[in-house]
Amino acid sequence: TRTFDKVEKILQKYDYKPEMLIKILLEVQKEYRHIPREVVNYIGVALGIPPAKIYGVATFYAQFSLKPKGEYTILVCDGTACHMEGSMNLIKAIEEEIGIKPGEVTQDLKFSLDKVGCLGACALAPAMVINDEVYGHLTPEKVKEILRKLKE
Ligand code: FES
Repeated sequence: TRTFDKVEKILQKYDYKPEMLIKILLEVQKEYRHIPREVVNYIGVALGIPPAKIYGVATFYAQFSLKPKGEYTILVCDGTACHMEGSMNLIKAIEEEIGIKPGEVTQDLKFSLDKVGCLGACALAPAMVINDEVYGHLTPEKVKEILRKLKE
């Protein structure tokens, strides 16, 4: 069962002020790496804001995610340069290694995968980013090797 201690602490920090909703959600996002449905309901009750309104805010801002993200957030670039250099093969390699497709998260919440537009690192095509680290000149084999190390 999930406790709401962490949420409660965040709410206290902002004095349960409804006008602090965005700041509160930013901290929730940081804590859980997404905004869980039950937390939305909890905040709604605590601040007297209808959950629908909270969902509205959460879907409006790109930095909020209603779906869980992994401890390792994998972003594979599918911009033109990377696409030409075989980004789809990288995505296939990731699926083979950890069993998820773009938009999905592994059961243990260790990895999530998303396909993104140009990362601004075209000279490194095909490229991917895991958390804040950029990996370039990738091959499916290299990708699998990187994932195996992270799995340990
Ligand atoms: Fe992939 Fe630019 S297209 S980094």
